[in-house]
Amino acid sequence: MSTPETASQEASAQAHQGNGAGGGQESLSVVDNRTGSSYEIPIENGTIRAPALREIKVSEDDFGLMSYDPAYLNTASCRSEITFLDGEAGVLEYRGYPIEQLAEQSSYLEVAYLLIFGELPTQSQLEGWIHEITIHTFVHENVKSFMQGFRYDAHPMGMLLASVGALSTFYPDANEIKDAGNRDLQTIRLIAKMPTLAAFSFRHSLGQPYVYPDNDLNYAGNFLGMIYKMTELKYEPDKRLERALDILFILHADHEQNCSTSAVRSVGSSQVDPYSAVAAGVAALYGPLHGGANEAVLRMLHRIGSKDKVGEFIAGVKEGDERLMGFGHRVYKNYDPRAKIIKKAVDDVFEVTGTNPLLEIALELEKIALEDDYFVSRKLYPNVDFYSGLIYEALGLPMSMFPVMFAIGRTSGWIAQWREMVDDSEQKIARPRQVYTGERERDYVPIDQR
Ligand code: SDX
Repeated sequence: MSTPETASQEASAQAHQGNGAGGGQESLSVVDNRTGSSYEIPIENGTIRAPALREIKVSEDDFGLMSYDPAYLNTASCRSEITFLDGEAGVLEYRGYPIEQLAEQSSYLEVAYLLIFGELPTQSQLEGWIHEITIHTFVHENVKSFMQGFRYDAHPMGMLLASVGALSTFYPDANEIKDAGNRDLQTIRLIAKMPTLAAFSFRHSLGQPYVYPDNDLNYAGNFLGMIYKMTELKYEPDKRLERALDILFILHADHEQNCSTSAVRSVGSSQVDPYSAVAAGVAALYGPLHGGANEAVLRMLHRIGSKDKVGEFIAGVKEGDERLMGFGHRVYKNYDPRAKIIKKAVDDVFEVTGTNPLLEIALELEKIALEDDYFVSRKLYPNVDFYSGLIYEALGLPMSMFPVMFAIGRTSGWIAQWREMVDDSEQKIARPRQVYTGERERDYVPIDQR
């Protein structure tokens, strides 16, 4: 960005050229009305660099302008090649591949490879990848005893949050984040062990013995075995449930700079180990506005209770007394493409488990909301969380396990984004500025004078 003096000559000339005809330059010409100075700010990839605003000052000792954007509604934090979203069109692509094709034709571990390494694997690469993941599914026995220390009714997401963070103490070498081979090893460990920690949390909540991984089963089937296996010598997962779960993991794998991924990137920017950074992602995902929404949807459906109560509930939403959980999205202003795919997977699961009566309430909610101007005007459509909980409940999982299921799938996206951040030469430790609106320079008042 050029300085005000030269900028005013350049900008006025360009401004003259650009009289309504559009100068065609990839830049902004701005006038600071406080000083009359003009500035030329380059436009790159549809953005301006916020630090460029610092040159817009009212005096030499002025700090300069900042951008102010609570909750980062309109701020790009990074450049990324991993996931593309078009919120208006309802498009989601992982490394350029449409989510619909990946859900239909791929597997979760193949999608995890794609997200992390950027290309679909060859047959031998995929076999090697699956083998590495499979032989790393066990956790240290001390992790098991650590988890057994939780209260009997501990929320499994809280257990997962703590145990992922605790893994950093079992692999202190994970701090060597600049070592690519080390990053690859921790990548494999995290993807491999997340289902094990999740299943241990579930079994803990039931007071049942933890089930060890079965390396003869695939990723989704092994998870089903670790949550369901009882006295049978060999757990045989139902292939339809296995496939439905694998699709759910694919759909939850990544979603560009959502709240939890931003947490992973921000915490990871301090160069902490990936277990601690992913634990921050689990913590963010726990919230009801994010990954906790699938749990909140089921609680909402149970609270509505029957199809004929839907109208009354919708009225409460429009009054502002309720939030229609599972609806709305910061980016999608159209139907979340993942919700469409999950809605289809619901039928496959119910073929095995029997229909969940809450589906009727969910379908009625969706029907009314898609026709009601309150939702249409706010561009509120079903998101990934609206139907997923129905599948988890049909699988026999308690609502508290729903965000845990989200975390299993999202682990590959968190890691892919963390690796991209570590390798990005533009990135530094994340440290936003603030607008200070508090008191200044007050003298201390002794307590007997307050
Ligand atoms: C996920 O970012 C991601 O990519 C997330 C995610 C991922 O894969 O990582 O897609 C996963 O988190 C999906 C979202 C799950 N959360 C929910 O379903 C919770 C319910 N939805 C919302 O709370 C809300 O829609 C958010 C949090 C998802 C988005 O909120 P925004 O973008 O901050 O929008 P907002 O809260 O400013 O709402 C805009 C307007 C408001 O009305 P007005 O104040 O303008 O009158 O829409 C209303 C809101 O009140 N609104 C809703 C609503 N969501 C927004 N009103 C009723 N029900 C809702 N669900």
